[in-house]
Amino acid sequence: MNDDVTKRVEALLKQMSLAEKAGQLAQISGADWNQGPQPEEIIRERGAGSLLWLNDTKRFNALQKIAMEESPSKIPILFALDVIHGYSTIFPLPLAMASSWDPSVAEQAQAVAAKESRAAGLHWTFGPMLDIARDARWGRIVEGAGEDPYLGSAMAAAQVRGFQGDDLSDPERILACAKHFAGYGAADGGRDYDPVYLSEAQLRNIYFPPFQAAVRAGVGTFMSAYMDLNNVPASGNSWLMNDVLRGEWGFDGFIVSDAFAVSNLAIEGFARDKKDSALRSLNAGLNMDMASNSYIENLEALVKDGSISMEQIDALVRPILSIKIKMGLFENPYVDETLLEKVAALPEHWQAARSAAQRSMVLLRNEGNVLPLSNELKNIAVIGPVADWMEATEGPWMVFGHQPNAVTVLQGLRNKLPDAKITYAPGPDIRRDIPHPFGEFDATAKRPAQKPEDAEAAFKAAVEAARNADVVIAVMGESHDMSGEFASRGSLDLPGRQEELLKAVSALGKPIVLVLLNGRPLSINWAAENIPAILEAWQPGSEGGNAVADILFGDVNPGGKLPVCFPRNGNHAPLYYARVTTHAPESSPNYRSRYWDSPTTPLYPFGFGLSYTTFSISNLKLSSSQVKIGQSLTVTADVTNTGKVAGDQVVQLYIHQKWGSDSRPMRELKGFERITLQPGETKTVTFQLGPDELGYWSTNAGKWIQDTASFDLWAGSDSLASLHAEFEVTA
Ligand code: NOJ
Repeated sequence: MNDDVTKRVEALLKQMSLAEKAGQLAQISGADWNQGPQPEEIIRERGAGSLLWLNDTKRFNALQKIAMEESPSKIPILFALDVIHGYSTIFPLPLAMASSWDPSVAEQAQAVAAKESRAAGLHWTFGPMLDIARDARWGRIVEGAGEDPYLGSAMAAAQVRGFQGDDLSDPERILACAKHFAGYGAADGGRDYDPVYLSEAQLRNIYFPPFQAAVRAGVGTFMSAYMDLNNVPASGNSWLMNDVLRGEWGFDGFIVSDAFAVSNLAIEGFARDKKDSALRSLNAGLNMDMASNSYIENLEALVKDGSISMEQIDALVRPILSIKIKMGLFENPYVDETLLEKVAALPEHWQAARSAAQRSMVLLRNEGNVLPLSNELKNIAVIGPVADWMEATEGPWMVFGHQPNAVTVLQGLRNKLPDAKITYAPGPDIRRDIPHPFGEFDATAKRPAQKPEDAEAAFKAAVEAARNADVVIAVMGESHDMSGEFASRGSLDLPGRQEELLKAVSALGKPIVLVLLNGRPLSINWAAENIPAILEAWQPGSEGGNAVADILFGDVNPGGKLPVCFPRNGNHAPLYYARVTTHAPESSPNYRSRYWDSPTTPLYPFGFGLSYTTFSISNLKLSSSQVKIGQSLTVTADVTNTGKVAGDQVVQLYIHQKWGSDSRPMRELKGFERITLQPGETKTVTFQLGPDELGYWSTNAGKWIQDTASFDLWAGSDSLASLHAEFEVTA
């Protein structure tokens, strides 16, 4: 903290009552379903650290006015909301943006989201979500960057830069929040909120790195996770917050709990009651209580009975005040109520969303070069339940009150080929078997269930539409409420009757393309064998339909790569590439699968994605075949576009430490670069391997180490890369 900020913080602390300090440690709910004291009342009496679940510019100013004019110490409120992949202009899902393997895509997207949401009066978003997720059943896999800590760390830092810029006082940026600390993605069985059991080595080598990358990028806040971690709930976990985050990583911002996570400590059988919950969280170093009012209700009693000292409380309040000062909120607490309409959904924002969507899509199959399609086509059938569904094009996590605005795939195709006959038949509807608890905020979740006879008629109409067309574009996948929070599922199959429809239409023998809109890997085994062209478009946001059309008709060459592997079956989860080899590796001829009823290899491996052109990667060179502990090695490889059109390749570098203090994964990503090449063009990519890449946290040593050992190294276009070299790390 600089001196001036420190002085202002200390001066404020001196004048604040305990009730006001409790107010600063609280994030109160601004939602209209609120029970108990209303925000106006709380703010007037003691101020509030922050307020969430409100998206109303005028009301922000009105509440801020109470804080600035009527509350005792006149401390501005931080207005906070989940702005996850866009505010007015919706960007592709975070998982999709990770598929770009281009951190600048995520940085630019979050810079636009920051600008729009700040103009609405928000100061703080609950993002980026940095949970490594290796279980595709877990609904929240959609919010993160997938299964890999190296890619996840690059995306983490980029999003923090996008939201915050490099100066907290920038009026076009917002405060970021690294969540959910830590381990949430490893919920037992992929069931949201269920407990997590992870070894310290797994936490440090796999789940922590994106969070540490966020700290290095200057993230202002953290959110503690909901679940129980090794029998100590994350929101009452002093080791996570005090020891690792603050002690080891030097984080000097503040930590907010997840919603109601403080009072949940009692539900989890950890704390005795709400008062004890507050005490356990405060002692664990959790600065701000989201929505449960546990701190407000209990702080005074806890101080009175000597359970907690004023020094401890001041230490928790300090970083909250300090961030408000650094953001310039004392000087500029209000938002210009005319700003949002000037800033929301500007053409350049939509252009950024289109480019992000184009760069995020992954071509999974293109047998016989079905794609790109000719723009001379005159008669196209579009089928599938998500082809013209705006919400399903945008995906989960829209801000409160957001009016869907996405260009659907159907609309994008019509924009691209205005003169063609494009017939749309959605086929049977898809919906969750068990409704989403937040369904009341989602107009489309309230649609009446389709009667079986109507579904049957819709099925037949889709087949008929396909029969009468020259080409069929099937747009299938998941609706927006099938991934995200409260949206885990046991199966990874296409929901409803989509695969049945695909089979019926494929039997007609027409050229057919499958465009997937979904928020997680899907086990599309049948399609992977039988549908010649498959484009993973994820849920691509406001410009999604146009971006899909750009790719299908060859105006853009797809270059995205999977940030997660696609299991063949939901029962195979968790599945990930960076496993440790044990007895009978799958590469040995007699042990091809861990199961006897299906191969355990993924349907599509991590890092996989095709292009309309072809590439060769060659000439793998190491600056030396030996490197001393602590030193770095330079790796280069040449990439050539061997096809006929320009395209992007993501060159990926994997290593394997062959022996050591601990056994190490058979492959680990340690470098990547996305490059564009003209036909015939060659570029050299360069990677550095140093102690950060070659060291790891060892169970045996109980600390970070670097071993002397031999390493394999591969460069290629996915996690099965075969271009190989070896090197040695010596003492
Ligand atoms: C619960 C979710 O787990 C978290 O990600 C979100 O930021 C909060 N609710 C606030 O809406």
